[in-house]
Amino acid sequence: AATVIVAIDGPAGTGKSSTSKAVAAKLGLGYLDTGAQYRAITWWMLTSGVDVEDRAAVAGAADKPAIVSGTDPAAPTITVDGADAAGPIRTQEVTSAVSAVSAVPEVRARITELQRSIALTAERGIVVEGRDIGTTVLPDADLKIFLTASPEARAARRSGELKGKDASDLAATQAALAKRDAADSSRKASPLAKADDAVEVDTTDLTLEQVIECVVTLVEEKR
Ligand code: C5P
Repeated sequence: AATVIVAIDGPAGTGKSSTSKAVAAKLGLGYLDTGAQYRAITWWMLTSGVDVEDRAAVAGAADKPAIVSGTDPAAPTITVDGADAAGPIRTQEVTSAVSAVSAVPEVRARITELQRSIALTAERGIVVEGRDIGTTVLPDADLKIFLTASPEARAARRSGELKGKDASDLAATQAALAKRDAADSSRKASPLAKADDAVEVDTTDLTLEQVIECVVTLVEEKR
């Protein structure tokens, strides 16, 4: 096909972002971080005084912020009402609140529509990473990957991204990841799940380079 759409799903800390960005850069495709969009709407809710535990309030505000994603894998961007949100969406406050906001159907409907319009207009194709891309957002994707890794490996990777962590922080990171994944997997609206036709890649004992090579090979087989 002239364009190729790749869906990469999986829980937090499996290497989705690093893998997706590198694969997109190598193959000349766009890159969309859908978690960043859920984080962006969550950040807007928190800074706009919306109670993120109040589902009706979150639903009522779901259409309000303008969210724009830049899809260059070398320099992905995200803005909310024109303001750069790349820094603020990575705070602990946003990470703790995002699962509640992303579980609200009105939020998912709004963000899903945005994701489809970006993916379906990408000139050469795109790598889209998230939780429900292969199952719900882009069920006709040319290739679906589901990344997994042991809880220990995921926590170690996530801790490595943060700075100056000791052993007790590793345990806390593992607990926080487990809590977020449980929430994301058990929600009613479009939960984290592997599509039936997704290729599962267990990254526990693989280097990032090996995962990237594996996915690039799978994409090339589809082209
Ligand atoms: O990928 P990241 O960890 O940044 O995602 C943040 C959160 O956004 C997830 O924990 C999940 O609640 C939500 N999300 C989602 N569906 C997606 C991508 C992310 O619900 N496709």
